[in-house]
Amino acid sequence: TNSTKQFPEGFLWGGATAANQIEGGYHEGNKGLNIADVLPGGKERLRILTNPGFDFEIDHDKYSYPNHEAIDFYHRYKEDIALFAEMGFKAYRMSIAWSRIFPNGDELEPNEEGLDFYDRVFDELHKHGIEPVVTISHYEMPLTLVKQYGGWRSREVVPFFERYVKAIFARYKDKVKYWMTFNEINSALHFPIMSMGFSIEKEEDKYQSIFQAFHHQFVASSIAVKACHEMIPDARIGCMLLSAPVYSYDSKPENVMFALQEERIFNYFCGDVHVRGEYPAFAKRFFKEHNVNLDIHEGDLELIKEHTVDYIALSYYMSLTQVKDKSGFEITPGNLLEGVKNPFLKASDWGWEIDPEGLRITLNKLYDRYQLPLFVVENGLGAYDKVEEDGSINDDYRIDYLRSHIKAMGEAIEDGVDLMGYTSWGCIDVVSASTGEFSKRYGFIYVDKQDDGSGTLNRKKKKSFDWYKEVIASNGEKL
Ligand code: BG6
Repeated sequence: TNSTKQFPEGFLWGGATAANQIEGGYHEGNKGLNIADVLPGGKERLRILTNPGFDFEIDHDKYSYPNHEAIDFYHRYKEDIALFAEMGFKAYRMSIAWSRIFPNGDELEPNEEGLDFYDRVFDELHKHGIEPVVTISHYEMPLTLVKQYGGWRSREVVPFFERYVKAIFARYKDKVKYWMTFNEINSALHFPIMSMGFSIEKEEDKYQSIFQAFHHQFVASSIAVKACHEMIPDARIGCMLLSAPVYSYDSKPENVMFALQEERIFNYFCGDVHVRGEYPAFAKRFFKEHNVNLDIHEGDLELIKEHTVDYIALSYYMSLTQVKDKSGFEITPGNLLEGVKNPFLKASDWGWEIDPEGLRITLNKLYDRYQLPLFVVENGLGAYDKVEEDGSINDDYRIDYLRSHIKAMGEAIEDGVDLMGYTSWGCIDVVSASTGEFSKRYGFIYVDKQDDGSGTLNRKKKKSFDWYKEVIASNGEKL
């Protein structure tokens, strides 16, 4: 049967987005530019951004910029939140654009217009009984911090971040009770530009630069956790990990060890520091073999030890299959990662391998390791949608994907995992992060905006809209 009974009362069902992928209004309300504002549209965007000569300037003659208008949530948030409410959302995960609050990142005082915008959004959510779940930094670092300071390479960014988090905690302490620090913090290991604000210039410095920047982020994250606990005692603050379980391609022990190493460095390194408050034992050898020498200031390790997170938020789209020697293997692209083709799995139109059992595996692994509540704050299927002549959008493929993943969460709960909630990614169509496309759609709500920038921006319910509404109303029983 399609029925499960596992979801606890008060389970936070909802959807998720990020400021830079929905808001638009990129220079309204005194907002400063951020890294997403210089991201061109199209599949080449990340390659362009990481080109050594890239100057982080906007060049309208050369590129289009889908994030500038995005889906215009900045002006349409009331309409969108009303639709979320109609689906019965209990929670809505969103991010605050740092550059709306501190336009350049290094000012002393926050920007009132920016603060006022999120006040209005939170009020609107509460009006509908929807709990805001807020990412403090989701791939939208102020551009000045990128250009003048080298992003998280620089320790100077830590006090700027501290000023930012304290400003938003002070302002929203009565409105926001669920926070998380850095979106998919571990993704920077393969792709630092979006979350750390710098690219790797010389390959030999790769790990030194990235792990030093991680250290700065860990210090910043602990400062945020401490401030949150002091300023909003009834709030909970988590870290956010990109979670993709790593499978060994076969049972050859060397391959199993290789997969384990990949999983530790990618999936567990950041989690271990955030949750246990310590660098994991395996880091020592990794640092030695990759010439990583961290500059750790006095008091850093104590701070990290004392202020650990309350829960673990995670994104899950796919698993990864690895083999030590990839020659002769077919490579599959993924969510900022790549592995080898898994013969048991089918892939999405963008090549991401679909693996609901992998979600159950991930949740169990994370819970076994940390025994902290988990929160699936991203999961979904990027797909091409077709508007039929009668206006309907029959996204059964999306329903199938979500159904199988929700079932897998139910199994994980039965397995003993403490799961707080589920906010599926891109509950309304958004600009894709990795490819800058509108045609890679995740939503229950269709937005009439196309890759060439045309479209009315009108919203339309897809078939999955009513399906998800039922899922929430039945607390996950009717799938
Ligand atoms: C996650 C990000 O990596 O995956 C989101 O946190 C992103 O910002 C999502 O949108 C899906 O990726 P994409 O590239 O399909 O938008």
